[in-house]
Amino acid sequence: MRLFKWSKANACFVPDLDDEHRAIFSVADELQLSLTGAAPDFEILEIFHRLIATAEDHLLHEEGLMRSTRYDARAWHKHQHDTLRKRLRQFVPLVEAGDRQAAIALIEFLSKWLKDHTALADRMLGAHLRNQNRLHAA
Ligand SMILES: [Fe+2]
Ligand SMILES: [Fe+2]
Repeated sequence: MRLFKWSKANACFVPDLDDEHRAIFSVADELQLSLTGAAPDFEILEIFHRLIATAEDHLLHEEGLMRSTRYDARAWHKHQHDTLRKRLRQFVPLVEAGDRQAAIALIEFLSKWLKDHTALADRMLGAHLRNQNRLHAA
């Protein structure tokens, strides 16, 4: 079963952030397909590192927006990002050593994290950013 299919349920209604979320889902889907398709190690590693870089760029983007708009729930939201970072870091040496079970565990963890995080934390942030835009436009 493909775990990473972006849908409206994952939307936070801020176009830039939704595009970045779609990109993360797409690389994660690529990783899952390469694992189920028994791709060579170098290919799995390339996608894995691209996934981490894509995710990190996005987390930093959101954290910058939270800072610049003085978002109230920033600490709570960033804590969720840090949990993801910590888990990804734990998986790096295992996946680099060619442990495919670890790579599968990683995508299962990521799939759940992304669903939960985009549906609540990112959606709340989206509402805050849209309000800020309205205030500044007024
Ligand atoms: Fe987030
Ligand atoms: Fe996000």
